[in-house]
Amino acid sequence: MTIRFDDRVVIITGAGGGLGRAHALAFAARGAKVVVNDLGSSAIGTGASHSPAQLVVDAIIAHGGEAVANYDSVSDGDKIVQAALDNFGRVDVVVNNAGILRDKSFAKMSDEDWDLVYRVHVEGAYKVTKAAWEPMRNQQYGRIIMTASAAGIYGNFGQANYAMAKLGLHGFAQTLALEGRSRNILVNTIAPVAGSRMTETIFTPEMVAKLKPEFVSPLLVWLASEANQEHTGGLYEVGAGFIAKLRWERSRGQTFDISGGFDADAVAEAWDRISDFTDATHPGSTQDSFTQIFANLQAD
Ligand code: NAI
Repeated sequence: MTIRFDDRVVIITGAGGGLGRAHALAFAARGAKVVVNDLGSSAIGTGASHSPAQLVVDAIIAHGGEAVANYDSVSDGDKIVQAALDNFGRVDVVVNNAGILRDKSFAKMSDEDWDLVYRVHVEGAYKVTKAAWEPMRNQQYGRIIMTASAAGIYGNFGQANYAMAKLGLHGFAQTLALEGRSRNILVNTIAPVAGSRMTETIFTPEMVAKLKPEFVSPLLVWLASEANQEHTGGLYEVGAGFIAKLRWERSRGQTFDISGGFDADAVAEAWDRISDFTDATHPGSTQDSFTQIFANLQAD
């Protein structure tokens, strides 16, 4: 195995089942010391249990690997990072994977449905990452993965809360990628598809069985490895053996002469050009985003 994690310490949140479990086993097989975090809650975020995380730790140890269980909620991210520091003395990789669903149409969504999904996905990823950030900066090494979703990228009926949280994680990751680069902290986001208890209500049992979480872990392991020296801020779709990178696309657009002002009728008239993706560009930074805007100011 060329990609190795010997002497590296990996935290995976929500690693008691589904994708997180597959990631934990994959890292451990390559020599990582793994903190297997899982609150052991239900898919809608109720209850708690030690057994999911413990079973994964037992499986890793049975295969000759090293792991410890942690049962805190990601809301207490500092405790999860502390578990890594107490048991293994450092933290090299954080995989923000813990998640729940509170699917409802927006008309029926309660404040609690909104808040709980925000708290687990966004605030949870923030808390764990925030606690790991300083140790990573000090050691000038870190790899962080966020777990987004197609629901956030494209929208999905009944998942306004989840979609908000999932695309929020990508925005979070893109900024951390900029701030972490000089300290060798690389931050990427995956949008996976896998059979798990989270998807067993939407996929057939056959699909759930075939869409193995193990098909997602290789991308994640590569991005989180030392072999990855430059790829940061990316967003990747991954599942069933398919892996692809996404980027923003911008139409050539329409520039209006602002010296005399322009109105909604002018926008309507230019609509085809505004929304036509022929010869589209792919801005990759706020600078790229602003270039044409400021050029038009100068032209004025
Ligand atoms: P899962 O339900 O099997 O795993 C999520 C784990 O997170 C569970 O073991 C749960 O106990 C744990 N968890 C929940 N709240 C927690 C908290 N507050 N603190 C610590 N642990 C907590 O589901 P799955 O499918 O493995 O999902 C993993 C991640 O992948 C989630 O973030 C999910 O949103 C995301 N995802 C999954 C997709 C799929 O097709 N399975 C699609 C897109 C995204």
